[in-house]
Amino acid sequence: MRIAMIGTGYVGLVSGACFSEFGHHVTCVDKDASKIARLEKGEIPIYEPGLDKLVADNVQDHRLDFTTTLADSVKTADAVFIAVGTPTRRGDGHADLSYVYAAAKEIADAIDGYTVVVTKSTVPVGTGREVAKIIAETRQDLKEGTDFDVVSNPEFLREGSAINDFMRPDRVVIGTNSEKARQTMQRLYRPLYLIETPIVFTQLETSEMIKYAANTFLAAKITFINEIADLCEKVGADVHDVAKGIGLDGRIGRKFLHPGPGYGGSCFPKDTLALVKTAQDYHAPLRIIETVVDINDSRKKAMAQRIIEACGGSVAEKTIALLGLTFKPNTDDMRDSPSLDIVPALLSAGAKVRAFDPEGMQEAQKLLPAIDYGKNAYETMEEADALVIVTEWNEFRALDLERVKDLLKTPLMIDLRNIYNPEEMVSLGFDYSCIGRPLRALMPQD
Ligand code: UGA
Repeated sequence: MRIAMIGTGYVGLVSGACFSEFGHHVTCVDKDASKIARLEKGEIPIYEPGLDKLVADNVQDHRLDFTTTLADSVKTADAVFIAVGTPTRRGDGHADLSYVYAAAKEIADAIDGYTVVVTKSTVPVGTGREVAKIIAETRQDLKEGTDFDVVSNPEFLREGSAINDFMRPDRVVIGTNSEKARQTMQRLYRPLYLIETPIVFTQLETSEMIKYAANTFLAAKITFINEIADLCEKVGADVHDVAKGIGLDGRIGRKFLHPGPGYGGSCFPKDTLALVKTAQDYHAPLRIIETVVDINDSRKKAMAQRIIEACGGSVAEKTIALLGLTFKPNTDDMRDSPSLDIVPALLSAGAKVRAFDPEGMQEAQKLLPAIDYGKNAYETMEEADALVIVTEWNEFRALDLERVKDLLKTPLMIDLRNIYNPEEMVSLGFDYSCIGRPLRALMPQD
């Protein structure tokens, strides 16, 4: 089958490469000529493990190519995926759909023969209907159901493990009101039938809602465990054992119960806000998600205060070493990363900040220009007054702790991702602070 993938951002590029790996012919389209030129040279504009090889292999086998010309690829496509950005609209929190609608218009102009138009971008309920309306208005000779259909096929990829998430998903959700479109989508995803992936077929609007409900539920789950972690600190309970104890209940599940500095990234912050806005527009407010958004925003800000308190109440003139800047490991994505709240707050409290991230430094230097950057983890912590783990990259999980202690001016570690064991850290002579795991030795004994 032939696919046109509009948008070579994170979702478009990963989905396009994976569909070509399934054996389909995929043309990835982007207006940004320099990006297409880079892709044609084999350069991947984002960091995602395994993506460079997947792209190279499929380009070599002539199943994947790149272009700036939308019309040619749409004309020959069985399915056209819209995978353009839907950023938060400036000022009000709604998703900005201008790129989606512009793509719909251009697709309409180029349609030649029955084409399934699929929204892969995260779009509010009702967008698919609007896309169909735009296509029908742009080309009055086209009839929905005969010449084109619109499908919602949200993605559930996580940055850092996106290829595996695409190839071995928990489920695929396909929303369409057309039997013909359903058959096209079934053919596209046929390789997943072999591994018995559940495919959920729904109405268009339901599928759009599933995507937001999934992301906001996960954001709420993280926020729940973060608040439980804070309470654990006060009452002397260990949040990891609590997460395990509740997570083994199949109704709750063990995943996404890891406490931390608050969720970030390109999806949860934007999608929670967009669903809150949609719900308000329909006079059916989602008070739980409104609260989740508030708690997460203040949590990210509170992390700097946590560091300051661990440093004895002041960081003025102190050097704070940060390990990890991206919103999670295995990505170079800095969007809505907790580090973007932590660093400015430390600087305005008078600290000097030195940081290191394995993949995010280039992006970080643009967003956080007023700090120093180390060449590696050890150089970053030399003579620092405190070491803060902000992102749990694997290479920070097994630091040579004797060396860390020698390099730091004072052996103080603030571990916002709980990657070390508190008792072990104390026995090694560290002043160690983490999230939701108070040190038993320090708790009042009766
Ligand atoms: C998220 C969803 O997990 C994907 O299913 C979805 O497709 C994607 O958004 C999207 O809508 O495109 P992603 O943003 O890549 O994926 O990253 P996650 O692994 O979900 O992490 C999001 C944030 O939550 C990170 O800041 C992470 O550190 C935090 N998190 C996650 C926790 O603090 N605790 C956890 O237990 C899990």
